[in-house]
Amino acid sequence: MAGSRNRLVTLGLVMSAASNAVAGLLPDQPGRRGNSGNEPLNLGFETGNLQGWEVVYGDAFGNKSVTDAASYWGGPFHQDQKYFIWGITQAGEAAVGELKSRSFRATSVLSFLIGGGYDPDNLYVGLVRDSDNRLLLKQTATNDEALIRIVWDTSKWAGQSVHVIIHDSSTSQSWGHINFDDLRIGPRALGDGDGLTFQVIGQANQPPRRNTPACSIYAEDPLRPQYHYTPYQGWINDPAGLVQWKGRHHLFSQFNPAAPVWGPMHWSHAASTDAVHWRELPVALSPANTSIPGDASGRFTGSAMIRGDTLDLVFTDFIDGATHPGAIQQSVAVASSTDGVNFKLYPGNPVVLGPPVGAPVDFRDPKVFHDKTDNSVKMVIGATDGTHGQVQLYRSTDSGPYSWSHVGPLYTGDGSTGNPWECPNFFPLGNKWVLFYGGNGLGYYETGTYNSSVFTSEKRGLLDAGPASYAMQWYKDESGRDLAITWLANWQTSKTPTRVNGWAGQQSITRELFLTADGGLGSRPIAELNSLAKGPTKNLGRFQVGDRARDLGNSNTARVKLTVNLKETRASSFTLAVFESRAESTLLSYDVASRTLTLDTTNGGYGQAGKWQAVLAKPADDKLALDIFLDRGILEVFAGDGTVMSATVWPRYKQSTGISLVGRNGTLAVAAASVTPLGSSWC
Ligand SMILES: *[C@@H]1O[C@H](CO)[C@@H](O)[C@H](O)[C@H]1NC(C)=O
Ligand SMILES: *[C@@H]1O[C@H](CO)[C@@H](O)[C@H](O)[C@H]1NC(C)=O
Ligand SMILES: *[C@@H]1O[C@H](CO)[C@@H](O)[C@H](O)[C@H]1NC(C)=O
Ligand SMILES: *[C@@H]1O[C@H](CO)[C@@H](O)[C@H](O)[C@H]1NC(C)=O
Repeated sequence: MAGSRNRLVTLGLVMSAASNAVAGLLPDQPGRRGNSGNEPLNLGFETGNLQGWEVVYGDAFGNKSVTDAASYWGGPFHQDQKYFIWGITQAGEAAVGELKSRSFRATSVLSFLIGGGYDPDNLYVGLVRDSDNRLLLKQTATNDEALIRIVWDTSKWAGQSVHVIIHDSSTSQSWGHINFDDLRIGPRALGDGDGLTFQVIGQANQPPRRNTPACSIYAEDPLRPQYHYTPYQGWINDPAGLVQWKGRHHLFSQFNPAAPVWGPMHWSHAASTDAVHWRELPVALSPANTSIPGDASGRFTGSAMIRGDTLDLVFTDFIDGATHPGAIQQSVAVASSTDGVNFKLYPGNPVVLGPPVGAPVDFRDPKVFHDKTDNSVKMVIGATDGTHGQVQLYRSTDSGPYSWSHVGPLYTGDGSTGNPWECPNFFPLGNKWVLFYGGNGLGYYETGTYNSSVFTSEKRGLLDAGPASYAMQWYKDESGRDLAITWLANWQTSKTPTRVNGWAGQQSITRELFLTADGGLGSRPIAELNSLAKGPTKNLGRFQVGDRARDLGNSNTARVKLTVNLKETRASSFTLAVFESRAESTLLSYDVASRTLTLDTTNGGYGQAGKWQAVLAKPADDKLALDIFLDRGILEVFAGDGTVMSATVWPRYKQSTGISLVGRNGTLAVAAASVTPLGSSWC
């Protein structure tokens, strides 16, 4: 382990030593800017064609692979300079082939931009040694057209003659291609210009786990959130089975341990005494082993139910129709545990065979709750009436998880919030009932009234106004608080650069839900998060700031609190920049007159790029409060009125840790500001 750690930490040093010697190793002098000095190798394809590269076989690559397209359906490609290889333009998705660079002498580091499909066996950039044609390193992409930079420590082979291959043996019609640009050798491989260094990412840089605690191993991965739950390797999506039982909070997640992409669903399992510090437990549920190749059957999202000394999980059993023709695809099943670690499937499964007679197949994510209106155990399930999202209501006939009768549709959407609905939750809060669900790729809540069988909505809103939230799940803890955790991602704006480090998906911090002054649903971070503080809070006190930005601190793993005195503020707007360096930043702006909060991640990094807005309530005391959690690549912003905005940003550069504040058109009156460095939830 120590070896791996040293390798990563010392890359920078190795490089600066190499920087004096490296120019002589190259067949040409690298230019200070761009690859213009590297024409013989044509490392960035700025000739507009494949000059200097050789098609080894196949028709996937040719001169038409080189393009100057700036953007695709999902945003910019982020190529270097003008040209790059878009693996689809020569002969489409399914074509196969291999491209090879000219030979060069390896230096101690190499980097390049990669995009396209995730397929470690069939789509990769490889480093090959000329003398024995050995593949020394390889890296697949992320199921994203946009390019991200991989940095390889090649010091073991420095001085040897090597070449790079771009390999595509994927015949898939979906993500069957690979994109490539800007191969860098020598010191330029590590960064841009003066003082901007790339995050060192890529599977080749990942330390193996062995028996190393998550605390230290997670610290080494620059993309890895430190206090948001992530899987060590593999993929997670929906949080499930949230419960506090015998003092411990349990967080299960939809999980594919085999790869950082969705696949046969397991339930990963973590537990915590404070809903902040998680400890990984064995996988709680695994798919039935049918030994049918490609069988995607698995255990979909569900909820937990406490029955005395037994903890029940009530979930969707998904049977893959492609490999099990004619099977009922989504039924409700139960697994139980008496130790909170080992779960046994109920032999009488399924407990609900499928959707109500005549209803469409979509029928999933059972959420059990106690119905205080008639003192019964009930369950909501996400569904559809064919054209509208719908929530079905069931009542337990044995007060347990085994026997259910269909009450009817609890609530049917008007069509504007998606179809079908998934991941419904239903519970009383204050003098209202809250229903929330996933639809249109977003999380919606509705607050209203309920008469034991039918919900009547009064108000609707988003559970999170940012781009990174789906499948939120609620639970009531032992102290009676209404808590929630959301998957900090969604299916629509898929940006998962972390795939190159072997993992994908993260859960939010634990949030406390409350009714807002106008009857909506608000969120705030739970008080226990204070225990993450690592080092003293930097209190900036009261101050005024105008159009000259003021530095508030420097950290990408921190909590930033800002209270603005709107009464004394003359500025028309202000902007808080986080994850900031000369090259990039994420901007959080507030327009005083319209009370609009805008999160702008357009130039934030490898993650979700765009602008998201929410109109905040007018604070009663004229004090606007923002509470912001930064965690390496992601942020969660909580406004005082209960609005929350989350985004996955993943800055490209190590230096993107700045935090600054600027007022526009006058001075901003800051009543209080602080920056608290946060530590790891795994330590
Ligand atoms: C690409 O175009 C150049 C210039 O016309 C030509 O010399 C080269 O053979 C072409 N390469 C391929 C792979 O078609
Ligand atoms: C599934 O079953 C097959 C056949 O019994 C066996 O060879 C295989 O190892 C099993 N796979 C897993 C993941 O248990
Ligand atoms: C609840 O309201 C619905 C719709 O108004 C009505 O059909 C149903 O009978 C009511 N149920 C109860 C238990 O009052
Ligand atoms: C400054 O004020 C002008 C005029 O009121 C307005 O149009 C402009 O948007 C303001 N600028 C900012 C950055 O808020």
